[in-house]
Amino acid sequence: MQTFTIPFIILVCLAALSAAYDSECPSEGFAQLPHPNCSLFIVCVHGRGSEIQCPTSLYYSAELGYCDYEQNVPDCVGGTRAPIGDTTTQRLTEQPTTQRSTQRPTTSRPNPTTTPRPNVLTQCGDSITALSGSIEYKLNANYDANELCVFIIRSQRDSKLTLQLEADGISGVDSNAITILSYHDDVNGISVFARLSRQNPTVTIPNGVAIVVFRTNGNTGTGFKIDFLATEDSVWLPGMNKVYNTNEISPLQLPIRSNNTEKEYDITVITSEAKQITEESSSLQLVLKTDNPFDFCNDRLIIWKLDGNDVVGYVPCGEGDQIYETRGMYIITTILNEETAPARGTLSWGRI
Ligand SMILES: *[C@@H]1O[C@H](CO)[C@@H](O)[C@H](O)[C@H]1NC(C)=O
Ligand SMILES: *[C@@H]1O[C@H](CO)[C@@H](O)[C@H](O)[C@H]1NC(C)=O
Repeated sequence: MQTFTIPFIILVCLAALSAAYDSECPSEGFAQLPHPNCSLFIVCVHGRGSEIQCPTSLYYSAELGYCDYEQNVPDCVGGTRAPIGDTTTQRLTEQPTTQRSTQRPTTSRPNPTTTPRPNVLTQCGDSITALSGSIEYKLNANYDANELCVFIIRSQRDSKLTLQLEADGISGVDSNAITILSYHDDVNGISVFARLSRQNPTVTIPNGVAIVVFRTNGNTGTGFKIDFLATEDSVWLPGMNKVYNTNEISPLQLPIRSNNTEKEYDITVITSEAKQITEESSSLQLVLKTDNPFDFCNDRLIIWKLDGNDVVGYVPCGEGDQIYETRGMYIITTILNEETAPARGTLSWGRI
């Protein structure tokens, strides 16, 4: 069981978004850094550091690059280690490093087809797999208060994906309405990457998947147009994007998987009818049930919540049935393999 559990433990953690470690992180690529508190370690993604907590009673081994039993982490004395002075960093890829190097020079050549294809997303929940296109949501039409409208763009695996706010009538109270989340397939992780606004109209995500979230407070503004363009890389990131905006489809059978026979990276978003929940006493509840929770480890299933400004991940690997609540949205990420049995079960949700 031990050899089975340990490789996944790196992912098993709560990621707290924090700028505190950015200065310690290398500006490019992926790295893991030890933390003076052995229960914690730092994951760096292109210069951004997040604090991750090891599962209870395990300590991070800088030598091995994952959380392990105390007796296997000799440099940790009484739960602490010498401060991060040494610069040993470890790549967070699970694949052998020869398979795919994030260090290799990336072609920054833009997509040679200069006329963008007519890939226009217009409805909340639209998603696309493409190298270029745009999102035009309520452009020149009033939006509602408390919208929580999600679009997903998937391009090629190591594409650099640039999003540019071309036009908007977003009002002052909603100046932070557009949040760009990025997905990192190396860590199966979601992070808040940037907010797009007139002051900050362009953002480039270093890896090819963006989740664009439009959240409003008031209803006095009009929508926007965002153009996106990805550099051509090597392969498409296999997998499926899906946004559930209503309560009608629940329950969803697990595994959530497309037809791919290869390893696939699936992203499922659930909102309460594309709205934020504003009543203190109400929430969007998500119930995860399975007969074999260890299959979630194989699937590397993570439930992320975007509540307010932060995204936090929960890993049900090895845990029994789970209940989550949010007034925002869920993002469920999985990495499915052909080799291992996927978790069977259900995901159901509803407003309570
Ligand atoms: C290490 O971090 C954990 C989790 O934040 C905390 O509970 C614990 O008290 C910390 N230990 C020390 C020695 O600071
Ligand atoms: C799966 O394959 C079948 C048959 O080739 C096809 O009809 C269906 O649309 C595919 N589903 C997905 C999600 O790709």
